[in-house]
This record gives sequence, C-alpha cells and structure tokens, in this order.
Amino acid sequence: MKKNNFNIVFFFILISFTLNVKANDTLSIGKDIFLNKAVCSSCHMLEDAGSNGMIGPNLDQIRPDKNRVMMTVKNGIGIMPAYEGELTSEEIEAVSIYVSTVAGN
Ligand code: HEC
Repeated sequence: MKKNNFNIVFFFILISFTLNVKANDTLSIGKDIFLNKAVCSSCHMLEDAGSNGMIGPNLDQIRPDKNRVMMTVKNGIGIMPAYEGELTSEEIEAVSIYVSTVAGN
C-alpha cells in the first residue's frame, strides 16, 4: 500500500514535469516564429523578444489575449498581412500562446 502511494506520487510528478517541458517548448517555438519565421518583430515592440518594430502597436501595451492574437495572425488587420497558409495552424497557435503569455510582463 505504501509503495503504491509512492508510485502514484511519482507518476504525477513525472506528468507535471512533462507538461511543463511541453509548455516551455511551445513558448520557445512561438518566440522563434515571432523573431525568425513570421518576423512579427519587424513591426511590433515586444520586450521578451527584444524587438522594437514601430509599424504596429506595442504588444506589451495592448496585452492581447491568445484569441485576439490568433484572429489577427490568421486574418490580418489593416496593413498587417494574414498568415493563414503561410504558417501552419500549430505555428499560429504557438506564436499566439507566446505573445499572450509574455506581453506586458
Ligand atoms: C508589416 C508589419 C506587421 C507584421 C509583420 C506583423 N504585424 Fe501585427 N500589426 C501590424 C499593424 C500595422 C497593426 C495594427 C493594424 C490596425 O489596427 O489597423 C497590427 C496589429 C496587431 C495586433 C493587434 C490586433 C488588434 O486586435 O488590434 C496583434 C495582436 C498583432 N498585430 C500581432 C502580430 C503577430 C503575432 C505577428 C507575427 C505573426 C504580426 N503581428 C506581424 C503590423 C504588423
């Protein structure tokens, strides 16, 4: 019985560790897309990415949530291009999670 409890605890530690690593992966993939693949950085200021583009709004100031970023990246807005077709939906999701997580922090 004691041994069983230990296994269960160990299992949950392992699971939470794995989920944590996954979340960190998504953030670093999102950051890479922001800086290199989609070059959002050329138009947007975002402190975490070290970018200071001035064409679009400062993302640290508008602090968009994930859905707002996803809508914008998919469909474009004003002079900002739409990325649907250019980025996969996984990439759009990763960059949206990244921006909404780090903006304003
Ligand atoms: C060519 C310059 C340019 C690039 C590249 C660009 N944006 Fe934008 N972005 C803009 C401009 C300009 C606006 C404001 C448009 C408006 O409100 O008319 C904007 C608006 C936004 C908004 C706010 C939308 C809203 O609801 O008001 C978000 C979030 C955003 N961009 C995220 C991104 C992300 C993430 C990327 C990369 C995938 C990106 N942008 C790439 C120029 C750009």
